[in-house]
Amino acid sequence: MARIIGGIGTTHVPSIGKAIAEGKQSDPYWSPFFRGFDEVHKWLASEKPDVAVVFYNDHGLNFFLDKLPTFAVGAANEYRNEDEGWGIPVSKSAAGDADLSWHLINQLVGDGFDITICQEMLVDHAVTIPMALMWPGEAAWPVKIVPISINTVQHPLPSLMRCLNLGRSVGRALDGYDKDLKVVVVGTGGLSHQLDGERAGFINKEFDLLCMDELARDPDALTRYSVPQFIERAGAQGIEFLNWMAMRGALTGTVREAHRNYHIPISNTAAATMVLENVPVAAKAHGCTSGEGESCCGSCVKSKIEASKKPEQIPA
Ligand SMILES: [Fe+2]
Repeated sequence: MARIIGGIGTTHVPSIGKAIAEGKQSDPYWSPFFRGFDEVHKWLASEKPDVAVVFYNDHGLNFFLDKLPTFAVGAANEYRNEDEGWGIPVSKSAAGDADLSWHLINQLVGDGFDITICQEMLVDHAVTIPMALMWPGEAAWPVKIVPISINTVQHPLPSLMRCLNLGRSVGRALDGYDKDLKVVVVGTGGLSHQLDGERAGFINKEFDLLCMDELARDPDALTRYSVPQFIERAGAQGIEFLNWMAMRGALTGTVREAHRNYHIPISNTAAATMVLENVPVAAKAHGCTSGEGESCCGSCVKSKIEASKKPEQIPA
């Protein structure tokens, strides 16, 4: 059965791709940001996910203002990148898991999300840069992906509650998927930033940290903000946090913050990285009835630990 190992939140600023291409990870300007991924790499190397479900927003590569779905799900076996005009190299392609995509699509439509289904879909830097950050230097990325695009560009945008519930629908689908896969859920973008207008360069550290705190412990609390209220606090492009809300919604178990890094500024944005571990509430939720597989789920691991604490029986 599929198991959701956790979620990763990360910024996706195009200039990160340029820094990677130019090997600037250790430069004083970039180092505090890239060092924040050391713990992410350790966690991924330990957990070894098979699939990444990536919530992101397209910036005009696959969708443009003339046709911009609120939610779109990729259902392909390969996702290509193309020149986006940011001056960054065209990325290698990502392998897709079309079977899993269709499983998620069926759940989402059944739950009332009128998504756009994309059997061809270019993915932009909001997918490729997080992939390059999570798995740097790999000839081919070691996971297949299911990209899910959320409109954070053209108003009206979906609410924080709607995106949290979108993620919850995806999480339910993953819990019910009958293939033996480890799944990491990724939300990209943000945090606070504004690229244009009178508030260009706007960053709100206090609000960013509050969002990260509440995302981990009580994401429903963040739904008190309407989209305009959130933009007022996080900047026009800070609303990319909707992707983080969807990521968090897909974590159906007990969630623990395992890592965070927050650094300002990176190219006029607040750069944040976060790892949220997801421990399934019950082994049963993942179809495990034996309790024998120590990598099966958190409940099995916990029961094994408890069993090991029991005193040995002394023969009479
Ligand atoms: Fe963006």
